[in-house]
Amino acid sequence: MTETTQPTEAAPRRKLFIRTYGCQMNVYDSQRMADLLRPLGYGLTETQDDADMVVLNTCHIREKASEKVFSELGRLRLRREERRSEGADLVVAVAGCVAQAEGEEILRRAPMVDIVVGPQAYHRLPEMVARALRAAGARRGGRGAGVLDTEFPAEPKFDFLPAPTAVTGASAFLSIQEGCDKFCTFCVVPYTRGAEYSRPAAAILAEARGLVASGALELTLLGQNVNAWHGEAPDGSTWNLARLIRALAEIDGVRRLRYTTSHPRDMDDELIAAHRDVPALMPYLHLPVQSGSDRVLEAMNRQHGRDLFLRIVETLRAARPDIALSSDFIVGFPGESDADFDDTMRLIQTVGFASAFSFKYSPRPGTPGAAMTDQIPEAVKEARLAALQSSLRAQQTAFNASMAGKTVEVLFQERGRRDGQLIGKSPWLQSVHAQAPERLIGRLVEVHVTGGHANSLAGEVAAGLGVAA
Ligand code: 5AD
Ligand code: SF4
Repeated sequence: MTETTQPTEAAPRRKLFIRTYGCQMNVYDSQRMADLLRPLGYGLTETQDDADMVVLNTCHIREKASEKVFSELGRLRLRREERRSEGADLVVAVAGCVAQAEGEEILRRAPMVDIVVGPQAYHRLPEMVARALRAAGARRGGRGAGVLDTEFPAEPKFDFLPAPTAVTGASAFLSIQEGCDKFCTFCVVPYTRGAEYSRPAAAILAEARGLVASGALELTLLGQNVNAWHGEAPDGSTWNLARLIRALAEIDGVRRLRYTTSHPRDMDDELIAAHRDVPALMPYLHLPVQSGSDRVLEAMNRQHGRDLFLRIVETLRAARPDIALSSDFIVGFPGESDADFDDTMRLIQTVGFASAFSFKYSPRPGTPGAAMTDQIPEAVKEARLAALQSSLRAQQTAFNASMAGKTVEVLFQERGRRDGQLIGKSPWLQSVHAQAPERLIGRLVEVHVTGGHANSLAGEVAAGLGVAA
């Protein structure tokens, strides 16, 4: 799980700190919450210490991710007491998937919380904050305002969000689809994010144009099932994701396109063909497989088998030979035998992944997997995860090493830890470190790769090759 904070802005009347846990969809939502709260006088700050309001935008995907929230709330309770002794106050909001799944429980276990808001209701945040501020004026003891909204409103929140104004930089997220109807038996997403919803193409294209106008060169299309996107086209027909990608690639200034996260079952031929035909579509795909065993895939209700996944990989590579593949794996799903696990290890060897995320199965309350009787002992999960990660790490290191000596186009995004160093991304989503002047942040630059390491590439801005855009 990643944990990210938002960039700072100038001179707000009130300071807002958003701590984002979990997936890229949460990063996008945090930016939109900042957009919503700006008219109320809230500007983003980088530290919790001077914040007038703190939002925890939470993740419920695994137990570890959601437990973090309660320990953070304990710290915030003390922080509010400090603020009050200084004659100030602190509004505390919990958003995201823990808010959705455990809203009542949060208010019971952490009564200091002012606002609990689910992922589909956060467009109502300004109204909720106004109520919380009124209640804060009359605050007694340690209690919060306790305003809760975890509805799945009939109106899509996107219709109520202002145009993005948060600083997004050269690489921007664009949410195009939300929710999931697939109900994998391990997963909380269908319960926390709700049913599948695709935004209309016109709204997506307008948001993309706005992001490009504010300096974005790369757009990453987001959705829990992004390749299931099918939306109303500007001419009233229905487009699929391939068609949308072609339309986005035509926008002047769009240099790179990515999309995540996809489901194998929705990886249709047109989308694969887009990887062949659309130069802006980057040669990288995150396609979670979860397991290499048909028996486990069936128990997970994945609606695809091992063969379908391997066939997709083959077709993708025929369409775009340099495509790098990434995936998600779960080890220790209930009933997973040694032989099932070996199937997963064999699939990894057959495919060859450029990167991957892997997890021990974590039973989530309310999902069918949690009620299955043949749960796997922790020690077995640990051993399997260690073996799997060692294979995946070796593949990733080999992939990165294979880049040495090549020249790749890098989108520089931020300063590195060393003096004069910048960090950017290659087309294959590798982090690239190079000595480069700061004016190259937000630019596409040709970089000569001098070395490939386990988690990054080292490179030099090649003299004579210079700046590509
Ligand atoms: N336990 C472990 N991993 C899970 N994931 C989702 N739910 C669980 C769970 N209950 C993983 C899947 C998914 C990724 C986002 O998180 O691999 O693709
Ligand atoms: Fe969860 Fe499965 Fe839906 Fe992905 S496809 S969000 S893993 S239920």
